[in-house]
Amino acid sequence: MNPDERPVSLEMEPEEMRRLGYAAIDALVDRAQGLRDDRPWQGGTRRELEPLFREDCPEEPGDADAVLRRAIDDILPRAGRIDHPRFFAFVPSSPSWAALLGDLLATGFNTFQGTWLESAGPSQVELVVLDWFRQWLGMPEGAGGLFTSGGSAANLGAVVAAREAAGHPERPVVYLSDQSHSSVERAARIAGFREEHLRRIPSDDGFRIDPAALDRALADDRAAGRTPVLVAANGGATNTGAVDPLPVLADLCEAHGCWLHVDAAYGGFAVLDPRGRAALTGIERAHSITLDPHKWLFQPYETGCLLVRDPADLTRAFRVLPEYLQDTDLGFEQVNFADRGLQLTRAFRALKVWTALQVHGRRAHAEAIGRALDLAIEAEAMLRAHPGVEILSPASLGIVCFRLRPEGAVPQADEAALEALNRAVQDAVVDEGTAMMSSTRLRERYALRLCILNHRSTRDDVRAVVERIAALGRERMELARG
Ligand SMILES: Cc1ncc(COP(=O)(O)O)c(C=O)c1O
Repeated sequence: MNPDERPVSLEMEPEEMRRLGYAAIDALVDRAQGLRDDRPWQGGTRRELEPLFREDCPEEPGDADAVLRRAIDDILPRAGRIDHPRFFAFVPSSPSWAALLGDLLATGFNTFQGTWLESAGPSQVELVVLDWFRQWLGMPEGAGGLFTSGGSAANLGAVVAAREAAGHPERPVVYLSDQSHSSVERAARIAGFREEHLRRIPSDDGFRIDPAALDRALADDRAAGRTPVLVAANGGATNTGAVDPLPVLADLCEAHGCWLHVDAAYGGFAVLDPRGRAALTGIERAHSITLDPHKWLFQPYETGCLLVRDPADLTRAFRVLPEYLQDTDLGFEQVNFADRGLQLTRAFRALKVWTALQVHGRRAHAEAIGRALDLAIEAEAMLRAHPGVEILSPASLGIVCFRLRPEGAVPQADEAALEALNRAVQDAVVDEGTAMMSSTRLRERYALRLCILNHRSTRDDVRAVVERIAALGRERMELARG
């Protein structure tokens, strides 16, 4: 055959497609079954990994079974198991199988969720799921938004929409708290705000923004001819789970004519539990809310969400209709989600959420959140039972921060030694595979932090970690005493 006429194909025979697809599903189910007995985290240095994976891109076809095995055995396990029941670091994510299947279907159908013309059914379902969220949060009818890649993208959307709503002022100000997630500052930077446009308002002893300081800053800026654009409040701060005083902030924003954004990326779905609902009172008055279903609604990455009181604020900020998309302009009732955010080409993220909620129902999701809230409270109680542990911030929306502080340790003078002790215990817990946990700094103090959101975590998981931390602390102190 003339080489020029060689058939070009990226196809597989149907039987091969099925066989490989089933093998991939089998690997995922095996992983899920074995997760609890596996390590919560596995890493590797660049120096270790380069020789394992550095290679030229293959010119010729490979053996598909071997390729998948390599991904399953060699690449994917060298990472955190974020959904491990004892992964308590950063912000965990524990997708349900139903959600994963929804994601798989959305990927397989290769839905283009940017315009109604190309995805009518999926776009309608996105509207419906967003409206479920709106109802859970208590936002007014008509509020809506879009699914995003995550909380960072949602925060960016909020900042851009707020600036547009404020009329693109010449001297804008964005207010955040000293506990705001870094993505808020990054969003402001991307949107063109410079350091002089940012006001970092201090938080109180409970890590909640100080409303009096915010009030003063808003008034001072107005008096000086600057325009407050957005107040970014926390609906579950990443450090401690703190929730800002949302009703007071809503009043302040109303009084000063400023957009209130609540970054509830990880904490927002706690509204499904009565205690979370109470903690987040006032969230419904926000102009915009960031939510991350891939955090506490048991969805796989990348599933973020931005809700705004008036979706037209997003459209005003983001809509551009070029001539090559004129066919997609079907009137505003047929929502083109590309008009509401950064992405034109978008995945059908709402399908996984819809699938999980249809399969398990809202109540099971609410109960899983409630159980995580219980476990964090129990973790705090277990920690308090150890005399050598100091709670640095009590359980709030699944997060508790603490440190080992052996009796007799003098607070200020011993800071460096305390940090070394806590860091060493944290490293040991992670290295030996008991749990994955991470640290933070609270008022300059090194803090260990447990973030308990996983629907598979149990009291025994929490107890195992707490007891191990306490035991390692005791061992190290005894060693130090000689
Ligand atoms: C409060 C808060 N906001 C925003 C983000 C950023 O979200 P993402 O990582 O999905 O972009 C996080 C992530 O942990 C968060 O906890």
